[in-house]
Amino acid sequence: MKSEQLYTRACKVLAGGVNSPVRFYDPYPFFATAARGSKITTADHQTYLDYCMGYGALLLGHGHPSVLDAVKSQLENGTLFCVPTEREIKLAEMLSKVVPCAQIVRLVNSGSEATMHAIRLARAFTKKNDVVKFAGGYHGAHDYVLAKAGSGAASIPASDGVLEEAASHTLVAPYNDSAMLERTIEKNRANVACVIIEPVLANIGLALPEKGYLNEVRKITEQNDVLLIFDEVVTGFRLALGGAGEFFGIKPDIATFAKALGGGFPIGAIAGKKEIMQQLAPVGSVYQASTFAGNPVSVAAAIATLEALLEGKNSIYPQVARTCDSIVNGIRDMVAASKLECRINSIGSMFQLFFATEKVRDEASAKKANALSFRRLYDEILKRDVFVPPSQFETCFVSYAHTEDDSDRTVDAYGDALRRIAKK
Ligand SMILES: Cc1ncc(COP(=O)(O)O)c(C=O)c1O
Repeated sequence: MKSEQLYTRACKVLAGGVNSPVRFYDPYPFFATAARGSKITTADHQTYLDYCMGYGALLLGHGHPSVLDAVKSQLENGTLFCVPTEREIKLAEMLSKVVPCAQIVRLVNSGSEATMHAIRLARAFTKKNDVVKFAGGYHGAHDYVLAKAGSGAASIPASDGVLEEAASHTLVAPYNDSAMLERTIEKNRANVACVIIEPVLANIGLALPEKGYLNEVRKITEQNDVLLIFDEVVTGFRLALGGAGEFFGIKPDIATFAKALGGGFPIGAIAGKKEIMQQLAPVGSVYQASTFAGNPVSVAAAIATLEALLEGKNSIYPQVARTCDSIVNGIRDMVAASKLECRINSIGSMFQLFFATEKVRDEASAKKANALSFRRLYDEILKRDVFVPPSQFETCFVSYAHTEDDSDRTVDAYGDALRRIAKK
């Protein structure tokens, strides 16, 4: 197997053989050579239906033609200027049009950068130090958000190398429990600068906000002079063009974006109220900087992505939700036929299956699900040419490139896999 050989070679020069821990799984991950539309091709010439989709980055699918055209034409005109461009203004104007809280925008390169600086902004604005996050919420790999984190960090208690001093400023509350959030904040009111939340918890598998929960979070933060940061790195431009802010009709003080914004290219954004965002240098005294921020290639990709989403929004969002619903309904039928105990959560173009007896609504319930059975499911559906993120603590993503035929094949693959799992 070429992937096996590549992994052996990779381990000699790359830490752990991969450049991000979620990419590794036992005994070795497949290596990719190409991807287009809804499919990804491996070094062993297998082609899989892809529901990892760049961990949510590829809402329009791999290699959307208008994104590729925009990037190709930018490549001819330069790849890095490090002086301002008109295109950056255009992108910020588009963002402030579609994102409800985006009065002012700062472009960055990734989701981690966006959340790290959003937290710094909140501290500077409130003149307080503590951050409240939620168990199972993932906001990137920096010091203030790794406590009880989801995604690849879900299987480790905490990261070594994070200063105790930094971790001591991070308070963790359970998701979907507004009473506990209120208690946490009231007890530490003098110190809490911000609450950072994935409006839909997408890094512990998928857990949805219960009715009225996000409104309560907004109310509690407002009442306690605490800023609310919506980490929309997954939900932004995916749940709706205006992200979870639009979908749930809630305006946070700051929102962070990455993934779907770039249509497959690295870009992120911090967006928020003018009085908060104007604290950023060079106008204000919160320092945030980056050589590659607003680079012309990623900006071209982001503009093309947003243009495609703006133009097609009345068909794209209903279509991805329909495809996702038909996959989820099909899998539910297969689960019922298999007599296995499973729970499936889904919203818009996102879904995840848990081998669980009780509803999955937070980190605690997600962690009760049988991760070993999930791992078996992963192996079985991969054998049937369907690739999902190789962890129970991730979400599956449907793109605009996924077709009805893809959806039927996916349901069949889950059905076969569930039958095999039920037999043993
Ligand atoms: C909700 C959320 N926030 C932040 C991040 C970090 O983004 P990045 O990997 O681009 O640094 C992620 C990554 O998965 C995420 O899912």
